Amino acid sequence: MWKGKIVIDFLKRKESNEQLQINSLSVINDDKQYQNVINIYKLALEEVVDNLTEVKQKYYDIFKDNLINNIVYRIKTPESIINKMKKKGYDLNYENLFTKINDIAGVRVVCPLKDNIYTLIRIIEKLPGIKVIKRKDYITKPKKSGYSGYHLIIEKVVVVNNRELAIKIEIQLRTMAMDFWSTNEHSLKYKTKKKLSKSDSRRLTLYAKVLNYIDNKIAKIYSKQLPHNQLC
Ligand code: GTP
Ligand code: MG
Repeated sequence: MWKGKIVIDFLKRKESNEQLQINSLSVINDDKQYQNVINIYKLALEEVVDNLTEVKQKYYDIFKDNLINNIVYRIKTPESIINKMKKKGYDLNYENLFTKINDIAGVRVVCPLKDNIYTLIRIIEKLPGIKVIKRKDYITKPKKSGYSGYHLIIEKVVVVNNRELAIKIEIQLRTMAMDFWSTNEHSLKYKTKKKLSKSDSRRLTLYAKVLNYIDNKIAKIYSKQLPHNQLC
């Protein structure tokens, strides 16, 4: 059953201690309610990671070729969730958390090349219990910074206390070149104390374009050598 609203109905119910009893506005790390909510996200995330790992393996078994290089995932920290909600001007309640924050659970999938990303998207769209509710194509249209990738917001159905809940998860799909760029750009911009100069910032944007060029060129060499594998 595909009903995002169901999550809210469920959270508003006040029942036994085993059920979530969430009406409050507080989102606190050691709060039991908060842990219950995060555990639901963890469950949904683990199931999606399992699905993707299976896709990776099956694709390899069939085509003897990698569709996916690696899969990493994380749950957003409470500080980061709260900061985001504050920044966006949302009241700190669970209804807003469930409905408005799409990346509490996030998976990043790195594929060899762009075509693999589009193949993988078609596979993800067909996975049982998963519904794509939003997509952002920063491959066709990279961000001003140079950032490139394809983002899906999906709803994954999980069963908690015999009820189906649709949990939002962000899936970021990148090629190795995109991942190389964005990982470095992120550490240069956010992790170093020194502020990035305007010229270095411009350089990074330029390098994103160079890497995109190389991404396409390498794909072209492959396309000349191998018939392209399409799973669906
Ligand atoms: P936020 O999660 O609030 O950023 O929402 P949004 O709707 O603006 O998200 P968007 O889908 O545009 O991007 C979210 C994620 O993509 C970020 O958390 C990063 O992981 C990645 N991302 C977006 N832009 C950049 C960028 O310029 N550089 C790097 N390194 N990563 C980026
Ligand atoms: Mg984010």
